[in-house]
Amino acid sequence: MNLPFDPAAIPADRLPELLRTMPKAELHMHIEGSLEPELIFALAQRNGVALPYASVEELRKAYAFTNLQSFLDIYYAGASVLLKAQDFYDMAWAYLERAAADHVLRTEMFFDPQTHTERGVAMETVIDGLHRACVDAKATLGVDAQLILCFLRHLSEESAFATLEQALPFRDKFIGVGLDSSEVGHPPEKFARVFARCRELGLHLVAHAGEEGPPAYVWSALDVLKVERIDHGVQSAKDPALMKRLAADRIPLTVCPLSNLKLCVFPELSAHNLGALLDAGLVATVNSDDPAYFGGYLNTNFTETFGATGLGARQAWQLARNSFEGSFADAQAKRGWLDKVDAHFASFA
Ligand code: HPA
Ligand code: ZN
Repeated sequence: MNLPFDPAAIPADRLPELLRTMPKAELHMHIEGSLEPELIFALAQRNGVALPYASVEELRKAYAFTNLQSFLDIYYAGASVLLKAQDFYDMAWAYLERAAADHVLRTEMFFDPQTHTERGVAMETVIDGLHRACVDAKATLGVDAQLILCFLRHLSEESAFATLEQALPFRDKFIGVGLDSSEVGHPPEKFARVFARCRELGLHLVAHAGEEGPPAYVWSALDVLKVERIDHGVQSAKDPALMKRLAADRIPLTVCPLSNLKLCVFPELSAHNLGALLDAGLVATVNSDDPAYFGGYLNTNFTETFGATGLGARQAWQLARNSFEGSFADAQAKRGWLDKVDAHFASFA
């Protein structure tokens, strides 16, 4: 691909500014993972929910994770303060304001309805609050925000089917489905039939695979679930044939560097394989996953990862382009955003 700018003409000290101001899309963030400790405590008080932590500081101290499960236990506890549509709205709005500040023009936000319906919160309450925030984001912030419903893979396929049934009256308010929660021991094929049904319904399909789990889970997400994107997917680098497949089919990987660091998928940020994924020709993207828990929103993921790995302006441009190309927006919207990316980089060179 011809670059619209000369990367050598961008001084290294302008890279953080370039990363912060470049137009970008976010394709992998869990809206419940944007609940900051302050908002958790405010909502707990508003709703009369008791928390097993005495203060914001004590809660924040618990954010020392050793793996995915150690995080999920705290993440589900945090989500217990969400009861009313306004709570879901307030949570999403706080994220969307931060996204706008990070020059995010498009975001596809995951939500976990089973975390709420299992506590007696109605599906309508969840979707109503989140969707109203998305509508307001477009009008007020200029952010194109969409929702992707995730099934919790530690629960049964039967529960996923029941969740889909509950969500179908609101089919126009989400664009796709995903698969998240505890990966190892819950392979994609456990959800083959519910994903087949979602495909018939014309929903976009994504799944977390190859975060902690093996390349075999990425293969089955592609071949059994027929997903269009892989969330995380960093373990794919262990399987050269899989890497070829991902590159040839231009399957986006929604990589989350600070999440991988905090959940000990990589021992340090400088050891992250984002650069290797790009070098192999994969449509890799950078995302924040659960920004309130993992130490930063999208721009922090970019600046810290680039600082630690030595990636430069060329990779920044590729990642910004990949984020829009990998989105589920229509071709015309994508073209407009890609032109903005090119113009932005040209203005720096
Ligand atoms: N992996 C799996 N499930 C999740 C994650 C994640 O990083 N964040 C929220 N649910
Ligand atoms: Zn995730």
